[in-house]
Amino acid sequence: MTLIDSHAHLDLPEFKKDRHAVIQRAQNNGIEKIITIGIGIRECRQALKIANQYPFIYAALGMHPHNAKDLDLQALDFIEKNAGHAKVVGIGEMGLDFYRNLSPREDQIRCFRAQLDLALGLKLPVIIHDRDAHKETVSILREEKTWETGGVIHCFSGDVDMALECVDMGFYISIPGTVTFKNARTIHNVVKTVPLENLLLETDCPFLAPAPYRGKRNEPAYVTYVAEKIAEIKKIPLKEVARVTTQNTKKLFSLP
Ligand code: NI
Repeated sequence: MTLIDSHAHLDLPEFKKDRHAVIQRAQNNGIEKIITIGIGIRECRQALKIANQYPFIYAALGMHPHNAKDLDLQALDFIEKNAGHAKVVGIGEMGLDFYRNLSPREDQIRCFRAQLDLALGLKLPVIIHDRDAHKETVSILREEKTWETGGVIHCFSGDVDMALECVDMGFYISIPGTVTFKNARTIHNVVKTVPLENLLLETDCPFLAPAPYRGKRNEPAYVTYVAEKIAEIKKIPLKEVARVTTQNTKKLFSLP
């Protein structure tokens, strides 16, 4: 049985000291592939470097809404120029974060639309971050005709209705470690309702460690806990969760 961690941040300083050991641990635990996601230009460079070092690691390039105010023409140019790299499989993460508002909302919206436009031109799938901006995220995805490239709503935090609307638009719903928390009823309902064919697994490491490690550093090996919880909620074999979500991830990101 193998799994894919569709969303990790291996470039972040939390992994600086023992990145290689973390990656090896993932491999030893049956994590077949990892997609490491850029959140700013410096991080994207690092993500590319890591993807170059390991055959089973891929990269996505993008500007996180927290860094939206830094998205200038030069940054867009960097993403566009490097998107053709053999290991780059998507554009993101991008989107809206109206919870922390680390960049002004107007900048976030501008940055989001610019990257969607770029991804459409490049015909690459998009990785969407949405926190406390469900309505705005969905309407921008609709307006920008994103179903043409498809993508994933990463670390999904909406309700069942939103999940089904996104699936209807051709998006995958990515389930993070928070699904293992006891009181996470909304995400449990999402997992119960959305067909397995539309789900991806992720860690979002170093953030959002699953229940046994809650509050500690997360890592790709722990994506196993997400798969186990989905199997439990859907009352299906773990092997089935592994097989179908791996297939979904490969299809979306055109992975071998
Ligand atoms: Ni992320």
